[in-house]
Amino acid sequence: MKKRKRLRIDRILYCLIILIIIIYLIKLGITSLINFNIDKSVRKDNLIKTNSKELNIWTKTINYINEKTDEMTIKKSNYYVTLNSNVVKNHLSLKIDSYTTKINEGKFKKQKGLYIKNNELLEKTSRLKIKLPYYLRKHEEVDVYGIKKGKYYLIKNKVKVKDKYITFDINDEYEDYFITYIPLDGINTNQTLKVEIGDEIRPSLIFLPSNATNKSINYSESKKILKIKGSMITAVKKGTTILTITNKKSNISTDIKVIVKSKKKVKVEEPKVEEQKTYEIENRDGVYYIGDTLIVNKTYPLPKDFNPGGLTDEFMNAFYEMQAAAELDGIELWIQSGFRDYDTQEIIYNNYVHDDGKEAADTYSARPGYSEHQSGLAADINSPYDSFNGTKEAEWLKNNCYKYGFIIRFPEGKQDSTGYNYESWHVRFLGKDLAEEITMSGKSLEEFFGITSVYGE
Ligand code: DAL
Ligand code: ZN
Repeated sequence: MKKRKRLRIDRILYCLIILIIIIYLIKLGITSLINFNIDKSVRKDNLIKTNSKELNIWTKTINYINEKTDEMTIKKSNYYVTLNSNVVKNHLSLKIDSYTTKINEGKFKKQKGLYIKNNELLEKTSRLKIKLPYYLRKHEEVDVYGIKKGKYYLIKNKVKVKDKYITFDINDEYEDYFITYIPLDGINTNQTLKVEIGDEIRPSLIFLPSNATNKSINYSESKKILKIKGSMITAVKKGTTILTITNKKSNISTDIKVIVKSKKKVKVEEPKVEEQKTYEIENRDGVYYIGDTLIVNKTYPLPKDFNPGGLTDEFMNAFYEMQAAAELDGIELWIQSGFRDYDTQEIIYNNYVHDDGKEAADTYSARPGYSEHQSGLAADINSPYDSFNGTKEAEWLKNNCYKYGFIIRFPEGKQDSTGYNYESWHVRFLGKDLAEEITMSGKSLEEFFGITSVYGE
């Protein structure tokens, strides 16, 4: 019996020892697994080299504030670790001690704010979620300032307070941060100015709050690329610089990047004196020509009996080609009035004189013998009234007729040279080359050839 009992005790002891050994081994295993020498002060890029293995660590910063002691705890409760080596690839979670710092209550223009020392933040290049002390969290929105060389720069205004927390991006640029609920008399401008040497610089500034009373500012710039005389800032040297604008009273600053380039040389273009080509005008059998181009206007009439019997074949062929092209563009063109002999023109002209008087009639109707319609080389397209101006047909004609050998013979604004008001419907056939040349020159036919169009009386 005794022996049995002892055997049982032996067995229990044996089991216990085995269990202790197992627990010890497990513990040893886990400990060795997590017992990397993690130095909390190593923050750079959150990359720690341990035992020649690389640990990538993602941290989650949880801050909480003890309202009684005003102590802020930055609790690094979870380090998510990825262990990378050639053989091991694993994820594990480590518990790290919390990190406590004293909140420095900011005293800025007697305003209460939360002052955060950047170098006490473990996580440097990401978003910071921070629990606000009670006097800040009562507000729906707060403003976040970055502090650089004692100056306050507005990072973000109207940051929403969500469930006692705010989140904002932090970066190494600022030494410290300041959070307040009262807008400081700040200046907010996010500009990069590109100027040339000699230019005056006038940055546009927005004051915060909009009813800020302290609006007197100081400009400063260290590279001497800008010349500052009170509020007169002039770019004097080529280069890139920072213009710091500081509210004289509140010491809040903003930076503007200024890029100064050398002055562009403005080429003073010599006005082109276009040489007017001289064209010989000759009279062959009572008809005036420049080369092979028949000329008829107020200066150069046609003989009374000049009668080609209708629009010339050249005219008609070109017109049919143009008409077909227009149709493809959905434009319908037709000849409203083509050839008019001397007698027909006389009736038309006399009617206008009767209705409007000679002076007025001469601005839109040719006297008999002086009309291009008598040449068989001109016609009125679609509608000879001002209501045709600007229609899609008139626009098409203006933009395309030269391609088929026509010009708008009495262009807009050319009354002084042509002798007639604008006629968007009257086309003259000249052949493709000359029509294109005259159209592209922007000149009227008279200007192009350097001839007049005035009645001899
Ligand atoms: N309407 C043009 C000028 C003519 O009568 O010939
Ligand atoms: Zn006409």
